[in-house]
Amino acid sequence: MRYPEELIEEVRSRNDIVDLISIHVPLKKKGSSYFGNCPFHNEKTPSFSVSRDKQMYYCFGCGAGGNIFTFLMEYENYTFVEAMEYLAQRAGVELPKQEMDAKMQEEMDAKAVLRAMNKAAAGYFYFLLRNSRGERGMSYLKGRGLSDEIMKKFGLGFADIYRDGLYQYLRSKGYKDEQLKDSGLVTIEERGAYDKFFNRVIFPIVDVNNRVIGFGGRVMGDGQPKYLNSKETLLFDKSRNLYGLNFARSSRKPYLIICEGYLDVISMHQAGFTNTVASLGTAFTPAHGLLLKRYTNEVILSYDSDGAGQRAALRAIPILKNAGLTVRVLDLKPYKDPDEFLKNLGAKDLEERLKNAKASMMFEIEVLAEGYNQQDPESRTSFQHELAKKLATIPEVLERNNYIEAAANQYFMSSKELGKLVERYGTVVAFDREQEEEPQVRQRQRKENEDAKKQPQKLLLTWYVNRPELFEKLADYIGPEDFLEPLYHSVAIMLFDQYEKEKKVTPAKIISQFPDAADQTEAAALFNARLKVAPLPKDNEKVITDIVKKVKSNSIEEEMNRSTDIVKWQELIQEKAGLQKLHISL
Ligand code: UTP
Ligand code: MN
Repeated sequence: MRYPEELIEEVRSRNDIVDLISIHVPLKKKGSSYFGNCPFHNEKTPSFSVSRDKQMYYCFGCGAGGNIFTFLMEYENYTFVEAMEYLAQRAGVELPKQEMDAKMQEEMDAKAVLRAMNKAAAGYFYFLLRNSRGERGMSYLKGRGLSDEIMKKFGLGFADIYRDGLYQYLRSKGYKDEQLKDSGLVTIEERGAYDKFFNRVIFPIVDVNNRVIGFGGRVMGDGQPKYLNSKETLLFDKSRNLYGLNFARSSRKPYLIICEGYLDVISMHQAGFTNTVASLGTAFTPAHGLLLKRYTNEVILSYDSDGAGQRAALRAIPILKNAGLTVRVLDLKPYKDPDEFLKNLGAKDLEERLKNAKASMMFEIEVLAEGYNQQDPESRTSFQHELAKKLATIPEVLERNNYIEAAANQYFMSSKELGKLVERYGTVVAFDREQEEEPQVRQRQRKENEDAKKQPQKLLLTWYVNRPELFEKLADYIGPEDFLEPLYHSVAIMLFDQYEKEKKVTPAKIISQFPDAADQTEAAALFNARLKVAPLPKDNEKVITDIVKKVKSNSIEEEMNRSTDIVKWQELIQEKAGLQKLHISL
């Protein structure tokens, strides 16, 4: 299904990366590069760099990087083919039509059709709400305190009482039953076709790129089920989408707020808390955690304050922590959810509560305490033991002691006694953990050793790209075969080849040669290793000489490991010894 390499390169080289990225990310020129706030993670100081010379981007904060294709694939969620089509059109390059294999084409088409259908449906619902047929919906939403402006922002709509209004509309737009039946929007039976949503207010669900991928619909008033949601489709994966993230991702606040429902998110945004998202009627998944981690390091859980909400929070905490997020928990009592809280106390009070949101550990401890009667000595003793067990799981000593102190204060115990109890459980826990962690420690060690070998190779590749004269200067010492890391090896072969043929290098071209997105990112990082470029040429010579020595001696060692020929062995030993005397002048 791949386009010919020359065509990919033509399309790439006829689009300028700085021009393209500037459309989405404001960039400022700084030295030879352009800098802006990274669109792939949440930051306040720009570490996202775009280079016109290299035709690549790289974020020093989160490591996102690549060429113009990678950018569109990451930022717009395009497939490679979609990125290619977009860029070809932009540059006025004609693409041959039948390049994709039939199966790819089919899936692409199905996705494109679904996208268009969802968009059309959203338009239909949106129009109805603002039409006389939508009066009931409008008065329901107004009654919930929503402004016209926020309804517009979230694209709210209405499905009226005709059971096949949307079906007829989509048919009139030219969609076939065959396509409609996979959309989740209608049910097609022998006896006729029915809309999934009718007589409900409609909440379009959009992905981070503002494309409609599904819907939620609420009954107006009481009725079951309260909410109906689109089923999962080719476009809609519940465990990978969060309601409101399309806005929250660029809110530039230090944390994101997670709540339970559609209306919580909308009320929060209306009150100015534009950093709020919800995990729509499904349990929180590890994929949600990682998705959030792309945009922030800290989250505040503001689930419903009832028992179900509390249990949901307890389940979400370890998942979020595993994703590397700091978690705090908001106290909304005596109100049930953020929407009710805002109606009763307003944004100022909520801001205050957010400031005081509890660390997740304290929240877990408080929930634990609710299960015991502190007045009954037996129950209180059990609680203290459970508490100590919980505290013993905190791996870091200082942090553990701080929590021991805080918990002892809160539950009127002596911190010394509680500390002793924790230690009793702690030794057991620590022992368990040691047993478990042994291999992890070794794993880390191995990874560090690997990195120690990879790093000089990476630096050297960056040097080659920045100072192509090195290809000549180092010709006697280094060749592509000295880059042992498989990915680096492929990159080095391409770079050396480019230099030999054209006397210059085009790293952005190399990136499109890797079909795998992860490889593309790593290859991009290769040309952007942080160089310790010293002001004095003498120092630079020392840096580059050291790197060459490291790369070469690793490569020689590797060859020695493989070699069984004693004569060859001795040559290698001499070559390695000779490296000591190496000095490269720039
Ligand atoms: P809630 O029952 O807490 O509703 O469900 P809510 O958000 O407070 O809604 P209002 O204020 O009564 O209108 C929280 C979320 O769980 C999902 C929805 O995403 C909802 O927003 N849910 C709830 C369903 O998917 N189906 C249901 O029947 C109920
Ligand atoms: Mn509610």
